Amino acid sequence: MKRARIIGTGSYLPAKVLTNFDLEKMVDTSNEWISTRTGIDERRIAADDEMTSDLALIAARNAMDMAGVKAEDIDLIVVGTITGDYPWPSTACIVQDKLGAINAGAWDVSAACSGFVYALSSAVQFINGGNAKRALVIGAEIFSRIIDWEDRNTCILFGDGAGAVVLEAQEGDAGVLSTHLKADGSFWELLYQPGFGAVHPASVSGIEQRLPFLRMAGNEVFKVAVRSMYEVANEALTANDMTTADLAMLFPHQANRRILDAVKKRLKLTDEQMFINVDKCGNTSGASIPIALDEANRKGMLKEGDIIMFDAFGGGFTWGSCLVRW
Ligand code: COA
Repeated sequence: MKRARIIGTGSYLPAKVLTNFDLEKMVDTSNEWISTRTGIDERRIAADDEMTSDLALIAARNAMDMAGVKAEDIDLIVVGTITGDYPWPSTACIVQDKLGAINAGAWDVSAACSGFVYALSSAVQFINGGNAKRALVIGAEIFSRIIDWEDRNTCILFGDGAGAVVLEAQEGDAGVLSTHLKADGSFWELLYQPGFGAVHPASVSGIEQRLPFLRMAGNEVFKVAVRSMYEVANEALTANDMTTADLAMLFPHQANRRILDAVKKRLKLTDEQMFINVDKCGNTSGASIPIALDEANRKGMLKEGDIIMFDAFGGGFTWGSCLVRW
């Protein structure tokens, strides 16, 4: 049977670094508070002339170079993002044009911080079903444009960036073994962007009420995130007759250090089994897992045959896991 194998990874982080000390000058906060509560030291911020599709494009090109795949060989482009260039058309279509991927269908997936796992899972179904040979899956976000920079509860958490993988249908044991996607829309109000959609169309009063900015109930998100990431990771292992002892590395959504430590503890993972780079990147939402994967891959931390897992949680609420034999 052919499986969707990851044959290339890529990522891109904007050059501008925003440290906790920079944030001290912007809102009533401290490096000590941010570091203790979130484990984040710094995050990257896109330049004014950088768009989500620009970040996605660089990550995609890096992944394609590693894979040795040309733009015309790609059958699908799926982008996990909720901070695309425009409400529509999809950022995937803009990337498709910039790449010259003339044979590819292209669409965005809206699953917030679970965007990459949802996008990857969608592409895998096309490959497993024989309807695509090669897919480009991207997570790309510019959260700095939907953050309320006067809200210290949220502005300290997020960063910008993009990560990408190239999938190819290949014979053999390596590749994506399973994907498990979950959602519970009853939690939507705990993490969302009120404007400007059909409920609150664009208006001057909406801007005054700061509707285009992200809103979050941090404490409640925290609890459900830990439980959901734990459960869906276990579900993936059970479905594949594996235990955490089989895992070479878990790539969790990099929400914040305390969530990751709690998930690690519940899954009884060692430090070596958990990849963490939230200290340098902050929460890059749908981009965080492919950015982390690319960093580990380029550092030579993954070897053929390793069992790795992606484990995501985000607004919606959405969550999901994806088990891969490298
Ligand atoms: N600097 C200083 N103080 C801050 C602050 C900041 N940046 N942000 C909040 N505070 C204050 C609060 O106002 C509150 O003060 P009060 O007690 O006087 O009211 C106090 O710190 C504690 O706030 P609380 O919200 O209880 O802190 P917390 O320990 O829950 O940490 C988060 C807040 C946001 C870090 C934490 O809830 C969290 O990580 N949640 C998950 C968020 C997340 O990952 N979302 C994305 C999921 S995909």
